[in-house]
Amino acid sequence: MPDKVTISLIKADVGSLAGHHIVHREQIELAKKKLQEAKEKGLLIDYYVFNAGDDLELLMTHREGENSPKIHGLAWDTFKEVTEKVSRPLKLYAAGQDLLSEAFSGNVKGMGPGVAEMEIEERRSEPIVVFAADKTEPGAWNLILYKIFADPWNTAGLILDPVMHDGFTFRVMDVQKGECIDLSTPSENYSLLALIGTTGRYVIERVWRNSDKLLAAVASVTRLSLIAGRYVGKDDPVCIVRCQHGLPAVGEALAPFFTPHFVAGWMRGSHYGPLMPVGLKDSRCSFFDGPPRVVALGFQLSGGKLVGPADLFEDAAFDHARRTALQMAEFIRRNGPIAPAILGMEELEYTGIVETLKKLQSKFFKV
Ligand code: 13P
Ligand code: 13P
Ligand code: MG
Ligand code: MG
Repeated sequence: MPDKVTISLIKADVGSLAGHHIVHREQIELAKKKLQEAKEKGLLIDYYVFNAGDDLELLMTHREGENSPKIHGLAWDTFKEVTEKVSRPLKLYAAGQDLLSEAFSGNVKGMGPGVAEMEIEERRSEPIVVFAADKTEPGAWNLILYKIFADPWNTAGLILDPVMHDGFTFRVMDVQKGECIDLSTPSENYSLLALIGTTGRYVIERVWRNSDKLLAAVASVTRLSLIAGRYVGKDDPVCIVRCQHGLPAVGEALAPFFTPHFVAGWMRGSHYGPLMPVGLKDSRCSFFDGPPRVVALGFQLSGGKLVGPADLFEDAAFDHARRTALQMAEFIRRNGPIAPAILGMEELEYTGIVETLKKLQSKFFKV
């Protein structure tokens, strides 16, 4: 049997430079040093450290499988050490923001960091695309993953490649109840859409190819506000998509970002804004703490080694999408604090607005 390799992308916001703008260079350097040590000890095959705005992203490959306490422990210790040795001494903003627990208990899921992991048998050639977003929530991937794996207007391979012809199955998590449902497309397309339109509650967690159950994509589903019971920062999700040879082409995985859509999580986690695709050099939020941004890094796996990255949105073809996103940003910001710019009460109830509304309660009078 071919060797299995696990790709783990574990991320957290552990404090940032200039408010919620960007991860500090020294945070990246320390994280690299920690992962390099783990590589030299043989725990990791390879790693790549990068940032999505103010979120520190640890991409790792190894043979420990999904949910490994060793790998999760390495990520947790790295986030802790970066917080203590860099974020706190430099008084970076919101040091340790996403580390919601004091003690590590074997798995970072439910402790704040976001996780996307897949254990796979590496194919003869294994192109993957790693997506990481800032100022949004996991439901931001719903539209994207639907288009990549279920929309023939986006993915020509659904029609042209016989291996993809039987479609894909989506695992959707109800993040409020902690329950999952598997829905197969194209037959259950409309049922899937009936759920995933509600992005704050129903979140796509993985996708399989129907013809042989090959795992095609995984995404992080952490909702920080549901864990903490209050607003601490946005989830800023990640996603890994396998591509080519019976799966969507890399270009099909990128195509949904050509026409930006609105996602939740901008400014104080409380506003809708367009998801703007950017290269690593522009992976930093500014205007109104945004607009929400996404980077796409392409790799070839080679015996678990991460060959790359290709900075896929750092390309003239996406200038148009960036301009569109900025125009959408201008339009929705005209609404200021008025819906539909601001999120619904079910999301805002984790913010400080609750106190204001409580104070107003006693002033209401019957008519
Ligand atoms: P593969 O089937 O080899 O992935 O090629 C698809 C393709 O031609 C992409 O445009
Ligand atoms: P992050 O979730 O990226 O830390 O942003 C928090 C925020 O409130 C930005 O306005
Ligand atoms: Mg932050
Ligand atoms: Mg962030």
